[in-house]
Amino acid sequence: MTYLTVPITATNLREVGEQLRRAAAGGAELLELRLDYLEKLTADSAAQAVDLAKGIGLRVLATCRSVGEGGRFSGDETALRNILAAACRAGTDYLDIELAGLERSGQAIPQFTPLSPERVILSYHNFEGLPDNLDDILYRMAGYTPGVVKVAYKAQTISDSFAALDILRAYQSQGQQAIALAMDEPGVLTRLLAKKLGAFMTFTSLDEQAASAPGQVMLAEMKNRYRWDSIGPQTRLLGIIGWPVAQSMSPLVHNAAFTTTGYNGIYLPLAVAPETKELNRFLDGLLERPWLHPAGFSVTIPHKQHALDWVRRKGGYIEPLAGRIGAANTLVFEQDGGVSAYNTDYLGAMNAILEAPGMSREKLQGLPTAVIGAGGAARAVIAGLVDARADVTIYNRTIEKAEMLAEEFDCRFAPASDLVRLGENGTDVTTTQPTLLVVNCTSVGMHPNVQHSPLPAEVISKNMLIFDTVYNPQETRLLHYARRAGAGTIDGRTMFLHQAAAQFERFTGQTPPLDLMHRLLEEK
Ligand code: ATR
Repeated sequence: MTYLTVPITATNLREVGEQLRRAAAGGAELLELRLDYLEKLTADSAAQAVDLAKGIGLRVLATCRSVGEGGRFSGDETALRNILAAACRAGTDYLDIELAGLERSGQAIPQFTPLSPERVILSYHNFEGLPDNLDDILYRMAGYTPGVVKVAYKAQTISDSFAALDILRAYQSQGQQAIALAMDEPGVLTRLLAKKLGAFMTFTSLDEQAASAPGQVMLAEMKNRYRWDSIGPQTRLLGIIGWPVAQSMSPLVHNAAFTTTGYNGIYLPLAVAPETKELNRFLDGLLERPWLHPAGFSVTIPHKQHALDWVRRKGGYIEPLAGRIGAANTLVFEQDGGVSAYNTDYLGAMNAILEAPGMSREKLQGLPTAVIGAGGAARAVIAGLVDARADVTIYNRTIEKAEMLAEEFDCRFAPASDLVRLGENGTDVTTTQPTLLVVNCTSVGMHPNVQHSPLPAEVISKNMLIFDTVYNPQETRLLHYARRAGAGTIDGRTMFLHQAAAQFERFTGQTPPLDLMHRLLEEK
């Protein structure tokens, strides 16, 4: 059993009671009383807090975290021992004892607590980063206890998480229990995969204020979005690889689709830093760990082209369309260890354009079209538009990239600075049809930089049809300008929906629940 644990970080007993009730109502399975948060911490108040927690009817872990280990307790060994002894007398089920304290005082666990060894969690924390002597630390811990050990360190990059996952895997195969987690956003997968790997517990916070460590996922999110109750050893790992990914709606949509279809998977935000070596390191790390059951990954800015290169280097299958586009937004990991790359942006973008009122394949033929951007998303959009015989010009900040792409796809190119002259030759007042299609394929305007637009308001006229592939926010600054100018608009959500649905099918082999996915996007 992996306990879904909620740290109680209240500073007084009244608040303790309130947090305990919220945690229980939210589905907590174990309560960690962070005694060091109590402003008036004495043996008596510690005992009262344990008493309150016991009254809830859930298991209780008492922790008095010292300043050196990231907590608030600054008293001496004697004071600590009195507090822990009081917590034990009040009936705590588990007690946290720090390795650092034991090593400093030269004491053994029985000198701290009468609790049996399996009720003690021996903990180690490192807020700097992944220590290079983790094996030695675990070895030293084993010398103190045959019971549960806890290792928590700061993840500098997502691949630092593998060390914690490897620990969980090793303990699980030996029939032992451990808690191993990487703190901060890059380590969030260690918290979300804890149950799959049989960790003793994982920590979730009641809300942002009550978080006791960086990177904790909220209790409600863990239960609802990440489907805590249905995670098991065979649960497959999926997610979105990008930088940033916090704003992505993919976890919401894919996890909900798993619930509806009964697919046994968990879909995570995977923040992989922009450098190509970080992407390669992470994907290699997944491939080396088939026991994580990696199944499929969405890929977004800025990794789409390098994800395709990675699959090529691994000798994997590349769908011809993705090969022609030169970018993959979908990676599938087969059970036999093979990998393949697909592109569902093409389909998503073309569906979005063709669903616009009055638009059709015929009307696209020869339609002057400005594509802004020359990255992975732009490649898919350009391929689709060129196939539909639109008259495409690529505008990009880095002109060399636009030039290369124009040559590849046989269309025109221009520097992004030319965008200010976009509407100059062709505002035909006699027609209500768009005379120019504009597609933004850069990340300009994406949350949190919502005040930016790739096109100034003055350039936009009502004969344009403007499609922003950015979907967060729904009405970007560019679309706001377009609407104000009376131009037609297509927001990024339709494209998102269709590319996500096609990905779901690739990942699971099942028909995507399109209505549900659509409703979730609308509600958001
Ligand atoms: P993706 O694979 O999702 O398309 P990408 O390959 O990193 O992501 O491409 C991002 C695109 O957005 C590029 O065309 C980039 O322009 P450069 O080629 O000049 O880098 C464009 N882009 C990103 N930020 C931009 C900004 N602030 N202003 C203008 N263009 C920007």
